[in-house]
Amino acid sequence: MVISYLDNNSTTPVLPEVLEAMLPCFSESFGNPSSIHGCGRRALAYLKHAREQVASLLDCLPTEVVFTSGGTEGDNLALKGVMNPGDHIIISAIEHSAILNTCKWLEHIGCEVTKVGVNGNGQVEPESVRRALRKNTCLISIMMANNETGVLQPVEEIGRIASEADVWFHTDAVQAAGKVPISVHSIGCDLLTISAHKIHGPQGVGALFVRRGTPLHSQLHGGHQERGRRPGTENVPGIVGLGQASEVAREGLSDGAAERMGMLRDRLEAAILRLVPETRINGKDAPRVPNTSNILFEHVGGDALVLALDELGVAASRGAACTAGEADPSSVLMAMGLTGEQSRSSLRFSIGKQNTVEDIDRAISALPDAVRRLREASPFYRPAASMAKGRE
Ligand SMILES: Cc1ncc(COP(=O)(O)O)c(C=O)c1O
Repeated sequence: MVISYLDNNSTTPVLPEVLEAMLPCFSESFGNPSSIHGCGRRALAYLKHAREQVASLLDCLPTEVVFTSGGTEGDNLALKGVMNPGDHIIISAIEHSAILNTCKWLEHIGCEVTKVGVNGNGQVEPESVRRALRKNTCLISIMMANNETGVLQPVEEIGRIASEADVWFHTDAVQAAGKVPISVHSIGCDLLTISAHKIHGPQGVGALFVRRGTPLHSQLHGGHQERGRRPGTENVPGIVGLGQASEVAREGLSDGAAERMGMLRDRLEAAILRLVPETRINGKDAPRVPNTSNILFEHVGGDALVLALDELGVAASRGAACTAGEADPSSVLMAMGLTGEQSRSSLRFSIGKQNTVEDIDRAISALPDAVRRLREASPFYRPAASMAKGRE
């Protein structure tokens, strides 16, 4: 069966040019970059090139790039690397679990955490961050784009607040990379996380931007790799994949690839709103990354709809892949004011560079029937039109 894979915020397929760039690192250039012989020096040259490619995506210096095992490690390293017991951190209610659960750990070791809310569009209000500042605030960590709704956060304003207050600022840009331009200078952040597998690179590799002069305690103890900030022999093939994916992501912002994702997303949203009654786009009125759509299908179990679509060859999701299958409603959508039921009835469609108009049209033709069947099977569902008639 042909599959329309519309779950690219969970993970993306590795692009052929990325795989091609990685392949030599498994064979002729397999060396350890710390070795001083030719094999090692060749591997080091690959690493250097990848570091430059990532730096160019983020608009930073190559020495400010620390390679990690992905977004989760980058977020952990940023927060644990800067915070000490007694320090205060400000985060938002819609952060990824890599931030939320790291903050639970920070509380456990004696840090204080303030979680600011979001408005109905899913955006953090910068003033709420300013109001949350305390004397012992050490770090602000607010994501750049939300993984469930795609809503972009006002990181530049928050960066200014952090700088005026003289506190460190981290942003999780895992879902923003490759979809909108990123400049650590315009954002004014000291730390920024990306992950390769969200930008058509391999899984299990990422990078943390660490502004020169930011004190960061390594969370691992070992060798001198990554200037002591992240010891351990580097994952050279993965890092080369991240570098190549970063280059493709940067080019995609000017060669029309990001715009094309936006056109596909808009086509999907317009058709769903037209063809499926009682639907709404979550976060519609806020600026969003071009590839993500989070849609509320009133009176439909989200997990049941994901499975029904899967049978029809359409892969979507109810939210973050790491919380998929959990009965709990999405904390992101609840923070935006949706009820638990509405949150469980919302689906995320996320588009990647590989998607075509046919992928979108397959979803468009599958959805109306799938939703209608699930609603008809529900003992609680009364169509809005017949309810209105009943009142006449
Ligand atoms: C916003 C955000 N941060 C962090 C992560 C974790 O990244 P990784 O899967 O590379 O550990 C994800 C993954 O879904 C994410 O969406």
